[in-house]
Amino acid sequence: MARTHRIAVIAGDGIGPEVVREGLRVLERAAAAHGFRIEPTRYPFGAEHFLKTNEIFPDSAFTEVRGHDAILLGAIGDPRIEVGLLEFGIIAKMRFELDLYVNLRPVKLYAEHLSPLKDTTPDDVDFVVVRENTEDAYAGMRGFFKRGTPDEVATQEIIFTRKGVERAVRYAFELARKRNRAKKLTLIDKANAVRAMDLWTRTFAEVGAEYPDIARDHQYIDAACMYLVRDPRQYDTVVTSNMFGDIFTDLAAMIQGGLGIAASGNIHPGRVSLFEPIHGSAPKYANQNVANPIATIMAASMMLEYLGEPRAARHIENSVAGLNQSKRLPSLGTDSGLSTTQIGDLVIEAMEKAGVPA
Ligand code: IPM
Ligand code: MN
Repeated sequence: MARTHRIAVIAGDGIGPEVVREGLRVLERAAAAHGFRIEPTRYPFGAEHFLKTNEIFPDSAFTEVRGHDAILLGAIGDPRIEVGLLEFGIIAKMRFELDLYVNLRPVKLYAEHLSPLKDTTPDDVDFVVVRENTEDAYAGMRGFFKRGTPDEVATQEIIFTRKGVERAVRYAFELARKRNRAKKLTLIDKANAVRAMDLWTRTFAEVGAEYPDIARDHQYIDAACMYLVRDPRQYDTVVTSNMFGDIFTDLAAMIQGGLGIAASGNIHPGRVSLFEPIHGSAPKYANQNVANPIATIMAASMMLEYLGEPRAARHIENSVAGLNQSKRLPSLGTDSGLSTTQIGDLVIEAMEKAGVPA
């Protein structure tokens, strides 16, 4: 019998259901071409479900979801609901409770016209960010004192643990080695101002001693934002903390062609992991069939790579790259005139034309 990959699917809010629909079509196509099966289980969680049932992500469903081989997520977030409630109840819950300690965010420019930077070619932008995904201010250790009064105090702790930092850093060194490109790892922190980040600096140096073949570089986050625009070529593999990684990868997404393209994997090696576009739910574009599904399609490709289907992953990636090179896909925004469905069709058509790669 064909290999079967069981996928928990949370399409979520806003444009989530539309982009996930195309992601699943492409997955089905890849499965058919490469001789495996995709068995999706759909979960309704998100704003509509919450408004109807008052349920965010019940434990019973969570237990089921974690029993799958991987999870595909569209987007979470809705203006009708308290800020952060569903984001934390669904996305962050999975990141923390499934201990998905790496947020892997490839940044690759597939065609020159996609980048807003002038004279920037695909050779200049090809790196991957390892964003620590379980600590930092995201750990939710916060409080309000004298709330709503002129004397209000608000706190939120930034936490880093030696174990948490070390596993992210180690993953990044291994990845730099595996990529075998510039063999360079850049640590981004803010240890000059946030002194707790000295833990990152020290861990990076100690773990780095075990990887003499990997060159080490170090930047502060403010300077890194400047360098990313001035000279993206200098990056091969990047490792950084949760919040800086969040910000840096939105900037990086623009350099590769926008949030319509950028994908991510929330990974705990060897365990059920979560794949999603970097973009949010974009409520103003919901239900109009105008959202760009490429980020979700690329997240599906990352998922296949993770599931041990590298040829199918490459098949999707090469097809998307080819469409970008021939300028048949939109770059920034939703003004390409192509619908969500038409973009899905183009990818599937390109996969068929390419045939199954060796
Ligand atoms: C992301 C998102 C999330 C984050 C939000 C929705 C909590 O921006 O995946 O980058 O900050 O991690
Ligand atoms: Mn983000």
